[in-house]
Parts: sequence; C-alpha cells; structure tokens
Amino acid sequence: MMSAGSGTLKALDERLGLSELTYPVPQHANTVAYSLGGISLIGFVVLFISGVLLAQYYHPMPEFANDSVRAMMQGIRTERFVRGVHYWSAQVVLLSILLHMLRVFFTGSFKKPREANWIVGVGLLATTVGLFFTGTVLKWDQEGFEALEHNVAIGELLGGLGHWFAHAFAENVSILLRLYIAHVSILPGLLLLLLGLHFWLIKKHGVSARPGTAVRVYLPFSSHVKHLGKYALVLLGVVLALAVLLPPAVGPAPVEGIEVTKPPWLFLPLFAFENWIGVRGLFWATIVFFTLLTIVPFLDRSPDVLPSRRGAAFVAALVLLLALAALGILAWVTPGAEHVGGVFRALA
Ligand code: HEM
Repeated sequence: MMSAGSGTLKALDERLGLSELTYPVPQHANTVAYSLGGISLIGFVVLFISGVLLAQYYHPMPEFANDSVRAMMQGIRTERFVRGVHYWSAQVVLLSILLHMLRVFFTGSFKKPREANWIVGVGLLATTVGLFFTGTVLKWDQEGFEALEHNVAIGELLGGLGHWFAHAFAENVSILLRLYIAHVSILPGLLLLLLGLHFWLIKKHGVSARPGTAVRVYLPFSSHVKHLGKYALVLLGVVLALAVLLPPAVGPAPVEGIEVTKPPWLFLPLFAFENWIGVRGLFWATIVFFTLLTIVPFLDRSPDVLPSRRGAAFVAALVLLLALAALGILAWVTPGAEHVGGVFRALA
C-alpha cells in the first residue's frame, strides 16, 4: 500500500513534474570547483531576499538617502543586520562568480559547444558589476557620491550615448533615484533573463567532463541540488556571522567639490589606470577588459582542454591576473587623487 508521504509526492509530481529533476549530472558536479556557479546562485537568492527587506528602510531621494542608511546602523536593529547580510552576500557572490569564471577558463569548459554560454556568462558578470556599482552609490556617502561623479564623467565622455547619466536627462528625477531603479528593477530583470539563458544552455550541453577524463559516474540532478544545500548552509553561516561581527560602514553625507575616497576592492585596478590616464583610462580599461573576456572562445579555439596543451592561454591568463593584482595593490597603497574635478556639480 502507498504511504501518505509517497502519495503526496506522487500527487505533487503529477502536477509539478518534480521527477523531471532527476536527469543525470556528472558526479564531479558536486566538487567545490564545479559548484561555484550554484554557490553564486544561492548567494543571489540571499541578495534578493535581503534586498527586498532593505528596500523597506531605504529612502532613495538625495536629501534623505544617507540619513536613512545611517539610521539603519544605529543600535541593534533588524535593518542593521539585513544590511550586513546584503553587503556580505554581495561580496561572496562577486568572489564566487570570479572563481567560477576562472574554473571554467582553466578547465577549458568554454570550448565548443559552450562558447555562447561563456558569452552569456560575461553578460552576467557585467550585470553583477553594475549591481555592485549602483549599490555602492545608494548609500550616498562620500564614497558613493564620488562613484557617481565618475559615472557622470564617463557619461560625458560618451557624449550622446551617456545621456542617461546626465542631470538633463530627466531634470525632475534625480540620478540617484534612477540608479536606484536600475539597482532594484532594470539590472535584476536583466540578470534573471541571462540566468535563464545560462541555465538553459547548461541543461542543453550538460556539465563538461574534467580535462583528460571521461565521465563515468552520474548522479540525479536532485541529489546535486541536495548537495548544493550544504554549500548554502555554509554560505549562510559565513554571511550571518560577518553581518553581526563586521557590519558594513557608511560615512556621513557627501561634500561636493572634493575627491578623497578610493573605490571598493573590485574597482581598485581601474583606479590605478585612472591615476595615470584620467577618466579616459578608467573607461578604456573597462572596455578592453570586457572585450578580451568576450573574445576568449575566439582566441583559444583549439579543442584542447588539457593544461599541458594550453600553455599560451594559461600564461596569458596568469599574466593578466598578476597584472590586475599588482594594479590593485598599487592603487591600495597610493593616496587618493582628484580625477573628475571637471564634473563637480549638484548631482541631486
Ligand atoms: C551570475 C553569475 C553566474 C551564475 C549564477 C552561474 C551559474 C552556473 C552554474 C550553476 C553552472 C553549472 C556548473 C558550475 O556550477 O560550475 C555554470 C556553468 C557555466 N558557466 Fe556560469 N554562472 C555565472 C557566471 C558565469 C560567468 C561570469 C561565466 C564566464 C564568463 C560563466 C560561464 C559558464 C560556462 C561556460 C559554464 C559551463 C561550464 C561547464 O559545463 O563546465 N558563468 N554556471
């Protein structure tokens, strides 16, 4: 006789098609290296939930934005904790996406037939960086304000193409409010679209074999999801602990006409370029970086995935990584400098 539990499962399966989630995935998909994409996704879920909660306390008008964030951080409050969770899960997501991309690169998993999915991945990275950047601006302290001034300066460099960042685009709606809308609706919407495409292509091609091996053991996808649940618990534990122990900083309301902060860690290599070449350097370094990432499948075209046969690709990637790390460290140790003197104006 069928038990009540299995009866319920069967009834749910008939309606939701849950048994379709048992398609085979290679056993190595459960290793940390091959779970980094899944870990990024878990981080996005935490980001989304904490972001929705945070939006209940945040005021996106320039007159109130900084005060609303500082009010969250006074005393022991729910919103202080929620902000900590949002901030730290953003850091974890960024790190896991970057590591996921390196894993895909070094195992040659972007090669035929997965070239298009690599390009979708680059789009996901760019969207995530956009979310990180707009998030930095929202707290509307000196760091956030200067970040926005750089954004406006780049908009000016682009002429008509950068018009969205100009105050003149919508004189009655502040740029802060428009960036807030980008942060909570435009960019998450784009991210969802790209994630849908990314996962559809992963399902279509399957997870790649480890270089030099053939996949022998498969697991049902549902057991991979259970395994990801363990990573989710670790991620949550780390993020919750960091949110309590190291709550994110927020400075006082910004002062116009000075440039004294440095950007968050992700943008430090760009800061070094800006020190040398000005805002133009910032713009072109970003374009060159994303263009190079996009054309990786066209540059490294051979079907070889073994590291021993991809010497040139490995050396090029390591040189690029070392150069970015060196630029970041250089920017970290050099004092702040003024770059966007020309664009200071009421951004409100
Ligand atoms: C929003 C961030 C991202 C999420 C949530 C995500 C998610 C995933 C997941 C769950 C997988 C399955 C295997 C694994 O976890 O390693 C995967 C595979 C893949 N991802 Fe991502 N990804 C993201 C960003 C990227 C980026 C930035 C790139 C490259 C520029 C990329 C390129 C790929 C490729 C080519 C595969 C197939 C790899 C294989 O079959 O071994 N992804 N992604």
